Amino acid sequence: MQHESILVLDFGGQYNQLIARRVRECSVYAEVHPYTMPVEEIEKMAPKGIILTGGPNSVYGESALKYDSRLFDLGIPILGICYGAQLMAHAVGGRVESAESGSEYGHTEVDIDRSGALFHDVAEKTVAWMSHADHIETLPDDYTITASTAKCPIAAFENPAKKQYAAQFHPEVLHTVEGKKILRTFVMDICGCSGDWVMDSFIDTTVAALKEKVGGGRALCALSGGVDSSVAAVLMSKAIGNQLTCVFVDHGLLRKDEGDEVEAVFGPDGPYNVNFIRVNAQQRFYDKLAGVTEPEQKRKIIGEEFIRVFEEEAKKIGTVDYLVQGTIYPDVIESGLGDSATIKSHHNVGGLPDFVDFKEIVEPLRMLFKDEVRETGRKLGIPEKFVRRQPFPGPGLAIRIIGEVTAEKVQIVQEADAIYREEIDNAGVENLGQYFAALTNMRSVGVMGDFRTYDYAVVLRAVMTADFMTAEAAQIPWEVLGRVTSRIVNEVPHVNRVLYDCTGKPPATIEFE
Ligand code: XMP
Repeated sequence: MQHESILVLDFGGQYNQLIARRVRECSVYAEVHPYTMPVEEIEKMAPKGIILTGGPNSVYGESALKYDSRLFDLGIPILGICYGAQLMAHAVGGRVESAESGSEYGHTEVDIDRSGALFHDVAEKTVAWMSHADHIETLPDDYTITASTAKCPIAAFENPAKKQYAAQFHPEVLHTVEGKKILRTFVMDICGCSGDWVMDSFIDTTVAALKEKVGGGRALCALSGGVDSSVAAVLMSKAIGNQLTCVFVDHGLLRKDEGDEVEAVFGPDGPYNVNFIRVNAQQRFYDKLAGVTEPEQKRKIIGEEFIRVFEEEAKKIGTVDYLVQGTIYPDVIESGLGDSATIKSHHNVGGLPDFVDFKEIVEPLRMLFKDEVRETGRKLGIPEKFVRRQPFPGPGLAIRIIGEVTAEKVQIVQEADAIYREEIDNAGVENLGQYFAALTNMRSVGVMGDFRTYDYAVVLRAVMTADFMTAEAAQIPWEVLGRVTSRIVNEVPHVNRVLYDCTGKPPATIEFE
């Protein structure tokens, strides 16, 4: 356990991990737990402060959540945010109303009382992010109102004697201009944290926790060479050494030289002890994909074959107690959106569990955001090439080849993509979310030397994106595109045209499938 931590109690809001992340940005360890966490466990954890998150429910009526109100008697400083603020008001005897007129969404101007303990360094008029229908109508006399908006007279309140603080708005969201300051004040000044937590402590605590959990058991990890599974595997190997086996399935749809690069780092000659098993299953995958052109079908075939290969290896190892997965927080949210339409089946997000006999899944990175995973990877000494790696889909190049996948086409796209990445690196183009080459299924007439050609068109894609849910095409300098084009047509056989994809997402997707 960390020597000081903040407990974020999750009431189902959208920004809950973001709260934890903002706290970690203050160099204080934070963990998110469900609001049902028993009070006895909270006492055992002994956090320096508790933050109650937002959530979609009302504090009254049928949808009211059943929580343990002894929470407010622990003597630990508490900050209620949005729903958390309403819950606190309700718990201490205030009144919360559902308000047609009082609801506020988006940027909202807030009047701040700077004598409020949370707000000593916040401007008297500031802008905050609001997202609520219900609002707090009254509070008991011993509570002070510390902020208000035009529609919401009680936008923040406190009772320092009881160590209770609340804000109707969301300090964790960047739209709340001074939100970080407010959270910092809570964590440092009010909770008295020292702010000496660093990623190294995350590594130490996680390794210790994994060691305790796994004990003498065996663990198995599907290593893809992506940053998430690499970091998860190294953490696990630090914890349990030889009890871990990592299986790396080379499905023949990886980027150029990638299989060998993964082997160089994680294999027996590399610095880590992960019992690395490389399965060269290239031909198996090509055989299964022969004649298949429909993208979703390709994904399904690859997903199923991957499972089969992995299962065969797992059987050779014998009993496995734990399956290690590199799930990170954004995967948790995405797969949590149960009713959203399936645009594409992400076979490697939460897709492995039910085919290997094991007791439990271990997800050491479940609470981290991508940049935090990268930082952890650096601290673990994983080479920069792996740590900085851009996202690469589980089904690999199969979904960057339009039409049938063949070994020859895989090679074309690997070579073209390697040239593209090399030139982008050389040119130092920045701020690209993702970039890669794909192979269209179009062949057209060209001329090379004195000969007519009838060859493929490679397409280059580069997007800028914050969250990979939407994206816009990047404006790669023309001379860079020109250089890439001439190298591809000169160096890669069977390519006589290079196209640039100018489409954003929507209406396209980032991948080219
Ligand atoms: P799209 O193409 O849906 O991609 O706009 C959004 C992001 O997701 C990645 N992607 C995948 N990642 N398994 C993954 O782990 C998959 O099956 C998969 N399909 C797409 C894509 O590379 C982009 O970053």
